[in-house]
Amino acid sequence: MAEQNREILKVEHLKKYFPVPNGMLHAVDDISFTINEGETLGIVGESGCGKSTMGRVILRLHEPTDGKVTFEGQDVLAMNSKQMKILRRDMQIIFQDPFASLNPRMTVSEAIVAPLLVQKIYDRKDKAGIEKRLREVMDMVGLANRLINTYPHELDGGRRQRIGIARALALEPKFIVCDEPVSALDVSIQAQILNLMQDLQESLGLTYLFITHDLSVVKHISDDILVMYLGQMVEKAPSYKLFKKPMHPYTQALLSAIPIPDPDLPMERIAMKGELTSPINPEKGCRFAKRCPFATDACRQQDMVLTEEEPGHFITCLRVQKGEI
Ligand SMILES: Nc1ncnc2c1ncn2[C@@H]1O[C@H](COP(=O)(O)OP(=O)(O)O)[C@@H](O)[C@H]1O
Ligand code: SF4
Ligand SMILES: [Mg+2]
Repeated sequence: MAEQNREILKVEHLKKYFPVPNGMLHAVDDISFTINEGETLGIVGESGCGKSTMGRVILRLHEPTDGKVTFEGQDVLAMNSKQMKILRRDMQIIFQDPFASLNPRMTVSEAIVAPLLVQKIYDRKDKAGIEKRLREVMDMVGLANRLINTYPHELDGGRRQRIGIARALALEPKFIVCDEPVSALDVSIQAQILNLMQDLQESLGLTYLFITHDLSVVKHISDDILVMYLGQMVEKAPSYKLFKKPMHPYTQALLSAIPIPDPDLPMERIAMKGELTSPINPEKGCRFAKRCPFATDACRQQDMVLTEEEPGHFITCLRVQKGEI
């Protein structure tokens, strides 16, 4: 089991701006958090709010505009390509659409073995060693050995995602960015894959950054949840607190869209009306103001500050901070 409360990843003031024809697109705009070993941080927000960009910047699949990423005490953004290649063994990614991320001409075994060869974990000639590791990893993710020579298009979505997970696990990583790993799957398969990921986390002591647009997906897997809106963090709290007492109007709106199984807890659906603020050269003030039913002039004029309203529960809403709503 992982040691309790050992910080494994620290992200400080991370920014990623993309130059676009009419200015700078603020995809990730000053995000900070830490994750402890063996824990899961859920990243939630609508499509386009910067979740994937953030995951990619942490792994340096994109170079950041500003900020700091520390993994096990090492400054990730200061590493050279050789150091990054070694770090890749510890930090992996699982993508939403395994079909798109898998080479259609590679069999299951070739897809899983490829990272082991690229990283030179095994010599190509060590057929027995490679075969042993392949079977181990396939067992771990519940892929039958008879599928070794099949191609991705011959398999269903759930099995393809199991290959994606196996590829990530092959190198024995410590930390995995899971970028909407169940969003493309049928609901019944989603539960199977989520259970598998939870079991793997427990048995291997893995740490997850679990990205999704669907709050209900991360409810059970996350220790903490960070809600993003247009590149910024609007709320962060332990999962149970966020579901019990969401404080930011955006989180409340997201939560109200989830059907509640308990009829004694009626929750009105809060409609998000109004246009989306542009992430290109965003104006001052709360980025949610155009859609927020509680917006005032002060919300539009003042820059938002993150405050800790209750132990471990952070928000940026000005009016909640002032006790007005
Ligand atoms: N390579 C890129 N160049 C320009 N803009 C990009 C690029 N990648 C992403 N974006 C923009 O950054 C924002 C965040 O995108 P993304 O991280 O994919 O969001 P999410 O994963 O939350 O759906 C979006 O406005 C998107 O259009
Ligand atoms: S700061 Fe104002 S506009 Fe923004 S979420 Fe809070 S009440 Fe709504
Ligand atoms: Mg995405």
